[in-house]
Amino acid sequence: MNAPHPYRVLFVCLGNICRSPAAEIIFKKMVGEQGLESLIESDSAGMIGYHRGCPPDARMLAALEKYGYVDPGIKSRPVGKDDLEQFDLIVGMDRENLRALKRLDKSGQWEDKIVPMCFFTTRFLDEEVPDPYYGGQEGFEHVVELLEDGCFHLLKELEKRLNI
Ligand code: 4NP
Repeated sequence: MNAPHPYRVLFVCLGNICRSPAAEIIFKKMVGEQGLESLIESDSAGMIGYHRGCPPDARMLAALEKYGYVDPGIKSRPVGKDDLEQFDLIVGMDRENLRALKRLDKSGQWEDKIVPMCFFTTRFLDEEVPDPYYGGQEGFEHVVELLEDGCFHLLKELEKRLNI
């Protein structure tokens, strides 16, 4: 059965300048390589609006570039209540993001859509995608590797769910 509209995935972290834009860039590349852009859309957002309108952090972009990814021009934006309704799957990077998303979903109506990124990772022991903001460059590169693993298996899962 085909989805009635493109399936929409929202990646969420705290600032939407490191982890979630990286997830969006990596996932979009994988979706594009499978020719699935018309069936699976993705976006990213942050729990705080502090970096609204800013591009991804230069250290994240450097790590992404090292692994062969190019930023299409993502600008940070805060997550809103409407996102809970409009996206089919909301992927939080760490426990605090997930707690904050569940607080935003006051009624619990969208609970089933909110999942941790590390639900999809297989090659690493991390139970959450660590916040690289206050650490060194190796932390950003670890985030890229973790997200490549998670995004790959997330896409496999969606291909199964959507029968594509
Ligand atoms: P992100 O990283 O949540 O992966 O985008 C951070 C970005 C900004 C801040 C913390 C984490 N901050 O404290 O401003």
